Amino acid sequence: MQTTGNTILITGGSTGIGRAIARAFHAQNNRIIVTSRNQARLAQLQQEFPDWSTYPADLTCTADVIELVAFIEEQHGSLNILVNNAGQQTACNFLHQVPSPAALVGEMRLNFEAALLLASLLLPVLLHSPAALIVNVGSALGAVPRSAYPVYSASKAALSALSVCLRRQLRETNVSVMELVPPLTDTLMNAERSGPKMSPESVAEALLCGIQNNRRTIRPGSSSILHAISRVSPGLASRLVEASP
Ligand SMILES: NC(=O)c1ccc[n+]([C@@H]2O[C@H](COP(=O)([O-])OP(=O)(O)OC[C@H]3O[C@@H](n4cnc5c(N)ncnc54)[C@H](OP(=O)(O)O)[C@@H]3O)[C@@H](O)[C@H]2O)c1
Repeated sequence: MQTTGNTILITGGSTGIGRAIARAFHAQNNRIIVTSRNQARLAQLQQEFPDWSTYPADLTCTADVIELVAFIEEQHGSLNILVNNAGQQTACNFLHQVPSPAALVGEMRLNFEAALLLASLLLPVLLHSPAALIVNVGSALGAVPRSAYPVYSASKAALSALSVCLRRQLRETNVSVMELVPPLTDTLMNAERSGPKMSPESVAEALLCGIQNNRRTIRPGSSSILHAISRVSPGLASRLVEASP
């Protein structure tokens, strides 16, 4: 698929990997729509990139998702790439700290349900264009769960299964489904964590390259190494993940 001349919605596009993806697509002459919660950050982006379209939404809130879809249909009927990137990662230990029900459900809502709803509600728009793409931003923890991040791991496993099923259902259509599985990346999400991190720009570059090459799953850097290890020795992959910083 071409990486130019598209109209692209990037959720969580105001920081980190989403922002880098938005900038990389923008540099290749695509129309960019970015959504996230923080209005000040969106206003700053709008100032920096006046031709971007920004839309404030809390994607854990179904009403916000539905309003975002209406905005896309009304203002950007030609949308042909959806990047489900917004995500959060919260450590939790069910034995030692009881998370609030809202926090537990909110993480699942953002990481999985928002992507599910957007893919489903925007599908009619995507089916309208000659070539369209859904990119779901997953995580290696979706395949090799880490006990410190139970909800996150479960949400990314669900997202990965959704990607496989959607891809199969849409096989005969113009809509492709791709999974991006970044390695540990230098963003706000894991600012506290040590260890080697990939830059968000390199993750975005890998995504665009993968799109050009019609790849189904893109695993930049150490993400592909962990994947290979998990196929040969799932136990070793688990130990590596549990021991990572
Ligand atoms: N960083 C890594 O090492 C890594 C590795 C593997 C996978 N990933 C995945 O990559 C994606 C991007 O992560 P990142 O590292 O770039 O994180 P990040 O810098 O924390 O960015 C997260 C983005 O999601 C938005 N967001 C958070 N909660 C939201 C909500 N309720 N509604 C709408 N938007 C919301 C944030 O903006 P607001 O706060 O303004 O809403 C922000 O734009 C995530 O899906 C993550 O799981 C990251």
